[in-house]
Amino acid sequence: MDKLVIEGGRKLEGSVTISGAKNACLPILAAALLSDERSVIKNIPNLRDMATMLKILKNFGVRVAQDGSTVTVEPHGYKKYIAPYDLVSTMRASVCVLGPLLAKQRRAQVSFPGGCIIGPRPIDLHIKGLKALGADIKVERGYILADGKKMRGGNVYLGGHFGSSVLATANTMMAATLINGTTVIESAACEPEVVDLTNFLIKMGARIKGVATHTLVIEGVKKLHGAEHSVIPDRIEAGTYILAAAVTRGDITLKNAIPEHMVALIDKLSEAGLDIKTAPGGKGLRARWMRKLRPMDITTLPYPGFPTDMQAQFMSLMAVTDGISVITEKIYPERFIHISELNRMGSDILLEGASAIVKGVKNLSGAPVMASDLRASAALVLAGLVAKGRTDVQRIYHLDRGYEKIEEKLRKLGANVWREKEK
Ligand code: EPU
Repeated sequence: MDKLVIEGGRKLEGSVTISGAKNACLPILAAALLSDERSVIKNIPNLRDMATMLKILKNFGVRVAQDGSTVTVEPHGYKKYIAPYDLVSTMRASVCVLGPLLAKQRRAQVSFPGGCIIGPRPIDLHIKGLKALGADIKVERGYILADGKKMRGGNVYLGGHFGSSVLATANTMMAATLINGTTVIESAACEPEVVDLTNFLIKMGARIKGVATHTLVIEGVKKLHGAEHSVIPDRIEAGTYILAAAVTRGDITLKNAIPEHMVALIDKLSEAGLDIKTAPGGKGLRARWMRKLRPMDITTLPYPGFPTDMQAQFMSLMAVTDGISVITEKIYPERFIHISELNRMGSDILLEGASAIVKGVKNLSGAPVMASDLRASAALVLAGLVAKGRTDVQRIYHLDRGYEKIEEKLRKLGANVWREKEK
């Protein structure tokens, strides 16, 4: 296993190119299963989750070729419909093959994904969406067994206890594209990754109205064709580099980030005193530390609210911002494993239910810390960048799931960071 070693205290400056969005690529690759024809998907980041998704596609008998950041998917004539436990258990997002398989093969068996370190991850909304389209679904021996012979369009409300669901919207929408009749999804998620998927489906010939709204209307078609698509830049990776500028009192230009995808984060950081502007030339963003930041309270919410996937990283910044901030998690109320690791580095954070009370400290001190999930790992890296001395972030295979070439990009910005084998 690898670890990331960081000698903290350097100001990060320069520019960084943001990779394609992991959470857009995964359902888009799954959507390619809806056609018999070749799809070409560009701007795919080289990440562990992408490799898992390609393995899943190959496992169905689909031919896949990768050339740098371009992936060609040739599903022609694939017949398999089982996503086994050993693949699904390494990546929950594998559940997004359920909708496409069901629509195309009229049956699917997908291992039940189970929970994970960020808390329970139910799939009741996925099942509700597909049942509303007439699918017969049972859970047996750890598998979701779905029969789609009687599927047809239907109406469904997909709002759950914690708001809309990204992948339940993706699964229901993908299934609806290829079945008879009209489907209306109310309380659909409208995260930029869902919008990117919708745009890809439309390029494949799907008939979808209400793109980027909470009501999607899908008119089923008989066949979808292959399509070419370039995936949007990753707003969470971009946000993490903006926070790297804030936490190290630096100046970072994000060459290709899309500011409209990061409104909540930009708003909070600007209010805190960070200088964030559209980069010279009108493309991308420049984040510059100019003055001491103020503490900010945040509450995570579905898009366009503050993203849960930025909560841990934002906490690292607040941990070294003078004053008190309250960080409330409304999407995954248990997503706080990073607190104990940050406190090992000298932060002063108290958990009260689903809120963290962060009392900013002057300094963090480097320590060996353990990454528990992808975004928590990114938070520990940010803490390591500002801490005094050496931080060893162990188990960085989590980071490799979602941050392409992280140590290379950070080094280019001036960080003293390298990868070592864990003993
Ligand atoms: N939920 C239900 N029932 C369901 C599905 C979800 O109650 O059937 C709940 C969840 O427990 C959560 C809320 O609804 O409280 C939102 O979950 P959502 O379904 O939107 O999450 P997801 O689609 O499984 C995606 C991202 C996550 C990101 C969330 C929220 C992908 C591959 N994953 O997951 O990304 O945190 O949306 O924005 O798109 C990450 O990248 O680190 C990550 C965890």
